[in-house]
Amino acid sequence: MIEIKDLWKKFENNEVLKGLSLEIKTGETIVILGRSGVGKSVLLKHIMGIAQADKGSIEIDGQTISDLKGEKLYDLRKNMGMLFQSSALFDSMTIEENTAFFLKEHGDVKTGKKYASEEIQEMVDHALEMVGLEGTQKKMPSDLSGGMRKRAGLARLIVYRPSYLLYDEPTTGLDPITAMQINELIVKTQEELKATSIVVTHDIVSALYIADRLALHKDGKIAYVDEPNAFLEIDDEIISFMKKTISEDPRNLRKRS
Ligand SMILES: Nc1ncnc2c1ncn2[C@@H]1O[C@H](COP(=O)(O)OP(=O)(O)O)[C@@H](O)[C@H]1O
Ligand SMILES: [Mg+2]
Repeated sequence: MIEIKDLWKKFENNEVLKGLSLEIKTGETIVILGRSGVGKSVLLKHIMGIAQADKGSIEIDGQTISDLKGEKLYDLRKNMGMLFQSSALFDSMTIEENTAFFLKEHGDVKTGKKYASEEIQEMVDHALEMVGLEGTQKKMPSDLSGGMRKRAGLARLIVYRPSYLLYDEPTTGLDPITAMQINELIVKTQEELKATSIVVTHDIVSALYIADRLALHKDGKIAYVDEPNAFLEIDDEIISFMKKTISEDPRNLRKRS
């Protein structure tokens, strides 16, 4: 469980987070919607422990991240994986080297045990197969399309099975069909890893497809958080607008039960 309490963050005179609170339940997929520039990426960086709040706290499984240093912070962080908007693959490494990267570095995230190279190869092949990238092991990131790079970024995360997965705008900039493949993968990853997933996006189709709960990030706070049906009924300008942009409820397209 993640408990974000009264988080404040300002850059120069730009107040980005203004007392933001949110509880994320273990095992759920929560989608945080919000317009560009509201501070969604900033929020994810605070959850990852790579940005420091001016005030407020974030507790992850009972540990306050701002209190952690050195090895303790590292242990917590390696149990989280973030898919950055840019995929952030290493350009000079092949897809299999990219996929193996955190796995080699972290070992088993639960026990710290390092893996043998045959184990790594097996896990890398499995992860690439899971995201539909079998056969790309020896390719370079520049050989792949944007959607494939996104999937390679995902393979690099799921291969070490972190308990928390953070996705920053996973479908932004992708064509609708590729975006839907990514949505399906997010659901599939959730089912296989039983992880807790936090997705930030401004894509309502993606949000409805994957979310157990939806939240709206607005004016520096989480204005509302609720299950999809109740969320869509909220009387709010942004939510009404988002609703108007969808012609078919994306949940009808979902393959999961
Ligand atoms: N490191 C930083 N230094 C200064 N301003 C920043 C920094 N990171 C983010 N911001 C500002 O914080 C605001 C929120 O940014 P961001 O979280 O990236 O928005 P979103 O992800 O919702 O589109 C923006 O106004 C952005 O310019
Ligand atoms: Mg962002």
